Amino acid sequence: MADPKQAAKAGAENEAHIAVHWREEEYVYPPAKFIGQANLTDPAVLERFSEKNFPECYREYADMLDWDEYWHTTLDTSNPQFWKWFVGGKLNVSYNCVDRHLKKYKNKAALIFVPEPEDEPVYALTYQELYTRVNEVAAVLREDCGLKTGDRVTIHMPMILELPITMLACARLGVVHSVVFGGFSGEAAGLRAADSGSHVMVYADGYYRGGKKIDHKASADIAVEMAKKEGQKVDKILVWRRHRGQYMSAKPMIEGRDYFMDDLLKKHLRKKVAPVSLDSEAPLFLMYTSGTTGKPKGCQHRTGGYLAYVTGTSKYYQDIHPEDVYWCMADIGWITGHSYIVYGPLALGGTSVIFEGVPNYPDSGRVWRIAEQLDVNIFHTSPTAIRMLRKTGPDEPQKYNYHFKHMTTVGEPIEPETWRWYYESVGKGEAVIVDTWWQTETGGFLCTTKPGMDPMKAGSAGPPALGIYPAIYDEENKDLKAGSGKAGNICIRNPWPGIMQTIWGDNDRFTRQYYTKYCKNPKSTDWRDWPYFAADGAVLPADGYFRILGRVDDVINVAGHRLGTKELEAACLTVKEVAEAAVVPVVDEIKGRMPVVYMALKPGVSDPQRVEKEVISVIETLIGKIARPKSIHVVSDLPKTRSGKIMRRVLAAISNTMDVGDVTTLANPDIVEEIRKQVQGTGPVQLKEGPEDVKLFGSNE
Ligand code: WTA
Repeated sequence: MADPKQAAKAGAENEAHIAVHWREEEYVYPPAKFIGQANLTDPAVLERFSEKNFPECYREYADMLDWDEYWHTTLDTSNPQFWKWFVGGKLNVSYNCVDRHLKKYKNKAALIFVPEPEDEPVYALTYQELYTRVNEVAAVLREDCGLKTGDRVTIHMPMILELPITMLACARLGVVHSVVFGGFSGEAAGLRAADSGSHVMVYADGYYRGGKKIDHKASADIAVEMAKKEGQKVDKILVWRRHRGQYMSAKPMIEGRDYFMDDLLKKHLRKKVAPVSLDSEAPLFLMYTSGTTGKPKGCQHRTGGYLAYVTGTSKYYQDIHPEDVYWCMADIGWITGHSYIVYGPLALGGTSVIFEGVPNYPDSGRVWRIAEQLDVNIFHTSPTAIRMLRKTGPDEPQKYNYHFKHMTTVGEPIEPETWRWYYESVGKGEAVIVDTWWQTETGGFLCTTKPGMDPMKAGSAGPPALGIYPAIYDEENKDLKAGSGKAGNICIRNPWPGIMQTIWGDNDRFTRQYYTKYCKNPKSTDWRDWPYFAADGAVLPADGYFRILGRVDDVINVAGHRLGTKELEAACLTVKEVAEAAVVPVVDEIKGRMPVVYMALKPGVSDPQRVEKEVISVIETLIGKIARPKSIHVVSDLPKTRSGKIMRRVLAAISNTMDVGDVTTLANPDIVEEIRKQVQGTGPVQLKEGPEDVKLFGSNE
């Protein structure tokens, strides 16, 4: 492993250029049984998707869809980096995910809902029934809410069937949905509703999670208030009831604003709403995510390119066939759920499982009971869930009679040891694993092995996905070639159909954030001059298997969820006693990373414990429980450079017992030792090497 002292020294000048050494893992080969049935085994695919066939290679994905009008230009680069895909084409996403399957599969389950309470029966929704319900909901949106193509709707809902039904109803009309993760607070939902200009929000009254009944509708009142503060009036709240005819919330329905969906639907039973034929480039949805600056940004995804990309990658990398039972345990409120629970699997006529609950409730056998009961054969989850299931029930999988052919890991780097438990215990040595690296912005997978063709390597995402040509650049724009052993910024050299269109309402930020850093010529309309900057550190060994190290910006990946440290710091500063705050990542055994808050209080504050409690509560209300810090340190001052910049990297080193490096040039070097003693104690400490992403933290500040 790298010498920490040297790494810290190198880091002072050039952080994204540290040397990375690790034990090379052995290749593991996909089982013959998997290969025998896989969607992708033809070696000619490599040639078809080679750089010389770009961008026409992506016809292969677009041809998996039904188009109302075929496109005339595969990729239009005339206005970089606002690439246009399948230009001139027209299609409808809900038609492609629902209507077109009726001929062959109307009687097959499209979605299977698994409620958290085990005594409540599982519910399978056929494609015919999905078709009926999507049409009826589209009628409500159009006729009762007056929504039309291009309008935005914010959907703040838990994992129940009505969530994808509402999304597909929006897609039928070309209404742009913005789904906010159900676990986010009303404030967070209201902020996003305001940013997107939503007049209508969709809620559920409640749901079950971790054995608790959650009153979700209570968030709606807060969201409406928050949106109003931001200058956006929300006129209508549509409320799905988790149990028909009952109301799970303690908050009253507000006359003239709140409507039960089951009431509204009565007028529209069996009504049909023709799918609107939309331009390929029409926006399909917004997905807010955290980035370098405080405000979450609305990643805007397009209709044609996005659907083509998630359909192609679901077929080739998730290996979904209509007869499979596919279960992705992510939440639909994140991009993984959009692309790989809803749109990709349904476009292929697949059967996709939706689970309301948490994996370890009521016990750590629950997930495997569901797998056995539904005969799930494709399973998709995050390293955090795997670590948790392993910790709480290492021997549980073998007690249940299920057999996976395919498993996915996504969202964070996975340690080889965790990977091996996943492979051996969860997959029982029978399932192939894909470690898929991608982002909210990218719509679909960027690096992963081809499950029926490539060997797996624990801890490495693997080669680029078909049609993706990545490179690793250092801070001086130097291309770090395979085998250099150096870490740098992973970039994608070319556009692809799944890439976001822009940041909603902020084209400049889109350019700045992803393209300015490595643009070779701002005047050029040649895509080769516009690499996409992913803000992840990576290394590339000689075999071409990318190993992703984690974020190089101010984002902390908590349990696979992106949290902006600037958002957390802004929340801390809303507590009036807090003078300054800095948030850094600390390694957590289960969640990968967690935020730690360092803060200095205003003079004369006598009750720091109360302030700490208030900070936690503010973070939970403004962002959500997932942002709860692992610890809070009230310090007398924060380490700063002479120009007054807070040295978050030094704080991250302290929290992770890593070498703080040379701090003599700071404006207040003594504070470092003071904070170190406060956090680590006065006794001797054994310094750790620490993971690369913590070393890289804040390096692009
Ligand atoms: C991280 C989730 C290592 C990465 C799909 C990225 C990963 C961020 C992997 C995006 C992986 C995602 N290995 N790291 N297989 N997949 N990441 O937008 O840091 O929620 O930038 O999208 O998660 O998170 P997001």
